[in-house]
Formats: sequence, C-alpha cells, structure tokens
Amino acid sequence: MCGIAGYVGPDDALPVLLNALHRVEYRGYDSCGVAIHNGNAGSGSRRIEVAKAVGYVDDLRAATGPIPGGVGIGHTRWATVGSPSKLNAHPHLDCTGRVAVVHNGSVENHYQLREELRQRGHRFRSETDTEVLAHLLEEYGSTPEGVAEALARVQGPYAIAVLFEGSDSIIAARRGSPIIIGLGDGENMVGSDVPAVLERANGFIHLEDGDIATVSASGVEIRHRGEAVRRRVHHVRWGPEVVDKGGYEHFLLKEIHEQPRVLRDTLAGRISADGHVNLGLGLDRRTPPEELFLLGCGSAAHAAMVGEAFLAALSDTRVQALEASEMVRPKRRGPGAWSVLVSQSGETADTVDAARDARRAGHFTLALTNVPESSITRAAHAIHHLRAGQEVSVASTKTYLAQLVGLYLLGLELFPPSDRRRRQMAAALRRLPEAVQQALAMAPQLEMLGTRLAAAEHAFIIGKGINYPTALEGAWKFKEVAYLHAEGFASGELKHGPFALLDTDTPVIAIMPRDDTYERMLVAVEEIHARGAPIIALTDCDNAELQSIAQSVVCLPPTDPMFTPVVSTAALQLMVYYCGLARGCPIDRPRNLAKSVTVH
Ligand code: F6R
Repeated sequence: MCGIAGYVGPDDALPVLLNALHRVEYRGYDSCGVAIHNGNAGSGSRRIEVAKAVGYVDDLRAATGPIPGGVGIGHTRWATVGSPSKLNAHPHLDCTGRVAVVHNGSVENHYQLREELRQRGHRFRSETDTEVLAHLLEEYGSTPEGVAEALARVQGPYAIAVLFEGSDSIIAARRGSPIIIGLGDGENMVGSDVPAVLERANGFIHLEDGDIATVSASGVEIRHRGEAVRRRVHHVRWGPEVVDKGGYEHFLLKEIHEQPRVLRDTLAGRISADGHVNLGLGLDRRTPPEELFLLGCGSAAHAAMVGEAFLAALSDTRVQALEASEMVRPKRRGPGAWSVLVSQSGETADTVDAARDARRAGHFTLALTNVPESSITRAAHAIHHLRAGQEVSVASTKTYLAQLVGLYLLGLELFPPSDRRRRQMAAALRRLPEAVQQALAMAPQLEMLGTRLAAAEHAFIIGKGINYPTALEGAWKFKEVAYLHAEGFASGELKHGPFALLDTDTPVIAIMPRDDTYERMLVAVEEIHARGAPIIALTDCDNAELQSIAQSVVCLPPTDPMFTPVVSTAALQLMVYYCGLARGCPIDRPRNLAKSVTVH
C-alpha cells in the first residue's frame, strides 16, 4: 500500500532515501517523510531527525535541507487511519524521540494498545495506528528479542522498518505485508519492494512472516522465533531505468506502449508448434476442475470475467468469476474445485484472503500474478507468472492485458479445443502482439476521440458477451485516470434503466467487433442513435451501416473473436490516457488511490 525505504552505509542517507521513495511513490503519495540518524557513528550527540511533507516526494525534497548521517528510514503514505497530514505522515516517533518507525499494514488493536500505553504515561501526537508501534517498541527495547516481544502484542498485518537512537542499524520485520532487504557493497537497504533498493543493491532477500532482520552497513542478521536463519538471495535483474519513463511523458503511456512486448513475454515458450499449451505447472497431474472460480479485485475482476466467458465457451465445467471480496466462506469441496486468483501485485488483501479461504475449503488454488514472490504465491498451491515486468502507473494496463492472455493460456491448457480450432486459436494468440501494436498505431485517432471526450460530463460504454467486461474495464479506467464519470453496461441492459440518463451530451462507446454478438450490438447502437447520443464504435471492420449512425468508427485490427477484448482494451486505454491528459489529471497517480491495496 505505502512505500518503505531504508539505507545504512557510508553515504548520507537522505538523498538515497529520497530517490528510493520516489521510485515507490506509486504505492502511496498523499504524504511522505524520512528519519535520519543525524551525525556519524562515534560522534557523541547523535539524534534522530525527522522531515515530513504533505504531497509528493519532490515536495519533501524541496522542503528539506541537508541532514548528515548514513542511517535512515523513509515512507510514502496512502492514508488509512488518520487523514493525510504532516502529523500523520510516517516516520512516527515515540514520546522520547528515540525510536522512529515506518509501517505498512494495519494495527487492528490500536485503540486498545493506545489506551494501555496512555495509562503508562505515553502521549500521542497523531491519529495513526502506526504511532502505537513507536511507543510500544520504545517499551520493549532495541534488541531483536525486544522488537519480537513488542510485535507479539500487535494484531493485523505489518511490514516495518525501525530506527533506534544510538544504533547503526535498521530493524525490519514483517507479518502479512512484504518487506525486502537490498544487499549492496558495504551498504544495505530496506524496501517495500524491489524499486526501493535498486539504486544500491545487487541482490535482495524477501523476509518471511515472523522474521526480524538487523540491517547494518556490513551485513544482515535475520532471526525467526529467536533462532538465526538464512534466506535465499535473489539477484536484481533490472537497473533503475526499468522504473524510468523511457522518454514518455507518463508511465501509463510507456506501459500502454510496452504491451506488444509484454504479450510476447507472457506467451513465450508456452504454446507448442501444433498449438498445445503447457504452463509447466503440472496441471495435468491434478484432478481436473469440475468447478472453477476466478477471483480478483477491480481490473483483475474484469479480467476474471473475460476468463469466465472464455473458459465457459471451451468446456461444460461450471466457471464463475467473482470479486475476491465476495468469496465469503467458500463451501468445502473435493479436489475437483479450483480457485484461480488473479492479482498483478499478489498483495491485494481481499484476493490473498480468498486464496487462503479457498485453500482451507479444499480447493486447488492457482495464483495468476506478476510478482512471483508475493503474499499470494505463499498462499496458493501453484503460480502462473504473468511476466509483464514492473508496472509503475497506478492504473493497470499492461498487467491487465497480460492477465487476459494468462487466462487464455490457462483455458487452452485445461480445455483444449479440437485440433483445428486449437491451431487457429494458437495462431491468433501468436499474432496478438502485432494486432495490439497496430491498434496502438491508431493513436492519432484515439487521441482526437479521447480529447473530445474530455468535454463530457458522463459517458457510457457498452459491450456484449466476452466484451461486456471490456466495457466495465474501460469505464473503470475513465473514472480512475480521467476522472470522467463513465459507466459500463451490457448492451442489452440499457433499455432496462440507464436509457433514462441518455441525452445528446452523453457519448456512448460501443465495443462491437464482428463476432456473433455484432447484430445485437447494432440493434442497441441504433436505439441509442434514435435518442440522439453521440456514438463511438470500436469495431474491426469498415462497415457502411455503422458509418451512417456512429459519429466515429474506429477500425481495429481483426483477431479471433475470443481475443478481441485484448485489442479493444488497448484502444480504450489510449483514449482514456488522452482524455485524462486533456482534463489535466495526474495520470500516473490518481487521487485517493494506491497501486496495491493491502487493507480490507
Ligand atoms: C485499476 C487497478 C485496480 C487493480 C486492483 C487489483 O486500474 O489497477 O483495480 O486491478 O486493485 O490489484 P491486483 O491485480 O494487484 O490484485
């Protein structure tokens, strides 16, 4: 949810922390702060100095003068408990000012702990649950054992980094929220995720739940239930440039244009020459699915809906897409029950919970994720990795298309169609990156349409069958990136209510590739036209009847009818981008949102 960074080394921590926080700012950007051990080791009067700002890391950078000292922690916040303000920004100190803490997660028993601590004389300054941790840690002392005892009092998930006055190390710990240690040369870092440590680390360690790590410039010691443990070191395969904009004005635009490459990576090595799919997960050794749930939140739930339409078309197995938060207490099932958890971050609290609940209920659980070392991969039996690469912009684009293709591949492995159809689909999948490339090359027309939409107050998006979720996803993105109130509807539903809102100022985007839903979509579009609303048709053929009723027709490259959501979504993304740009929106960091939602 929020971003954490920590640095211990020979250089001043402040600039390293500011750069690190900048890279993880997509995780939270309503306020930020740093705590630095002012002075160098051996200098008698060292104390913890804190600097905070409301807004972005650049605001903090501008407001903060130099602070000498090579040990520090920092945080970018997405407010949960307590409004976004300087007082509520992390790091939080205890009342002596000798303990500073940054925290991701939630202290579920913070009211109770706060009351207890108050009775023992602690005075609180902020409204946050995190401040409770600083006071608690102060009581138990700076040793790993003390930190473990303090954390044993805490209910709820956490990832923390702590600075104790007088110490030349940072203590990091986790339970339920991720935190990593970046390993450098004579210097080490702590981070909520890999971009936080990229500048100085060439390897990193994922802490496990219950680990307490003491991170100094010369090394890292990890203890688990009092015992020293070793954790696997991963190599950093990216350079800092992966989280640069690469010449684009926004990460969102860069990530939209990366999609042809991403789809090639997602497909690579997974389809044989004759069209057989093998994800390499040993799925053929499992009891085949008799009932299959597809679960995700937000855009991932839309991807799950596309997956439902695809898998249901390939088999008679009962397939159901659900918002992960709606999978409450799944019924106990035998090995034929499968739950597929769709989550790019692998950290979305509702999806991780659904994975655990489904597993407890006896389902085989498969995580479709972009982050192989995430909470969901610990919770699920197997992992289907999306290979989309780091996505920085808060709105998902390339990871959404990778989720769609990941679900297509899963469907084709589980329920392979007849030889001819299988080869046809495999060929269409291989051509999909090229089709997306061609759709993105239509940027000038999509820019013109997106810019025109910027003047609208409301918009409708309609689709049918496998493109109904595309309508939902498009509307989701217009809200999120362009702050345009857009609603997605199944085309047949309009006349059952939403027509009441339709007027000549309500543009309607119709997603209508030439598949077996086309004729019905045409009827809906004619009904809309009769009510005077301007229509933008996204189709894959130049069609005379559409030209006469739609204000604009976008002729997208054709693909297999099952894969049209990939191409039409790419076109919608560009329209949304240009609409957001024209409306002056903070494209990569929409207000009130964060990249991964690790709270309920
Ligand atoms: C929308 C968006 C969100 C995510 C949702 C789930 O653009 O990005 O709706 O899709 O928060 O996130 P993951 O896939 O990380 O579980």
